[in-house]
Amino acid sequence: MADLSISYLDLPLKNPLVASSSPLAEKIENLQRMEEKGAAAIVLPSLFEEQIELQNLGFPGASSGFLPAELQHIPNMHAYNQGANGYLAYLYKAKKAVKIPIIGSLNGYYSGGWVQYGRLIEAAGADALELNVYYLATKPHIDAHEIENMYLELVSNVKSAVSIPVAVKLSPYFSATANIAQRLAKAGARGLVLFNRFYQPDLDLDTLEVVPNLSLSTSEELRLRLRWAAILHGQIPTDLAITGGVHTAQDVVKCMLAGANVAMMTSALLMRGIGYTSKVYMDLLNWMEEHEYESVHQMRGSMSQKSVTDPTAFERANYMRVLRSYAMKER
Ligand SMILES: Cc1cc2nc3c(=O)[nH]c(=O)nc-3n(C[C@H](O)[C@H](O)[C@H](O)COP(=O)(O)O)c2cc1C
Repeated sequence: MADLSISYLDLPLKNPLVASSSPLAEKIENLQRMEEKGAAAIVLPSLFEEQIELQNLGFPGASSGFLPAELQHIPNMHAYNQGANGYLAYLYKAKKAVKIPIIGSLNGYYSGGWVQYGRLIEAAGADALELNVYYLATKPHIDAHEIENMYLELVSNVKSAVSIPVAVKLSPYFSATANIAQRLAKAGARGLVLFNRFYQPDLDLDTLEVVPNLSLSTSEELRLRLRWAAILHGQIPTDLAITGGVHTAQDVVKCMLAGANVAMMTSALLMRGIGYTSKVYMDLLNWMEEHEYESVHQMRGSMSQKSVTDPTAFERANYMRVLRSYAMKER
């Protein structure tokens, strides 16, 4: 049988399938089922910066109707994660309930309570911490340099406070992705998670309101991640995780070939149920056997930019080729 083991964030994993942060991980019985069905690690739903803010101001788990005027901008998170301290208690229980690594997650963009909660998440037993920096650069006077420095400061502040490995879930919208990846590694990131999915609001033409719109991914979204994993693999001294568009064992194989350590799933599990993990696991094993791969290690990075015969396939030359191939098909 092929050896599926792999290391991610210095954690020895039995295979590269990781359940990414989602509401499925809000229940202990779901965590146990994920483990039983083959997930090798689980990222918990994020603790949001806004929840930390509420906790520190003395309004843990308050619904927005009960908040003072200056905190009314914080969305109603009453039912979410049982507040910041509830999150820590849940994490502690989660660690007791399963044997696979549990990765805590913090979501926000300024380091206010992150150092404090990074420490608490470590104390509650997390094996690693994922920082989901969700910042939209909407202010014309804030330049890219300032934003990148904000990311770097946040990572180095959290990293200096905890000894567990820290991963950063990145946006795909940097002007210089390879450069920020390298600087994040220097700031202490042990892993990069490619990429955050930003949910774009829609305009409701009946009510003329801006409405939040969450659509689940398809495998189409994987290609952006594959390209960047392939480019970063071997160039940046961090582990790589791919999140966004992993739906099948073939998708997982592509993640490994591009150079990722792990492939994460949320949409696939929300659509098909947690039990679907075991199908992906079995299909992965079968694919590797059919194609005579002995281990995930052997596959990993074998189609990264450094390894393929035509490295320009990941760059601008590929863009021209794609356009030309379409024009020729049409004639
Ligand atoms: C309903 C839902 C809730 C999510 N909650 C979180 C979260 O709390 N923190 C986070 O970092 N990502 C969160 N995500 C993003 C997922 O972890 C994942 O990165 C994203 O869905 C892309 O992967 P996929 O294509 O497998 O769905 C959430 C996604 C969904 C669909």
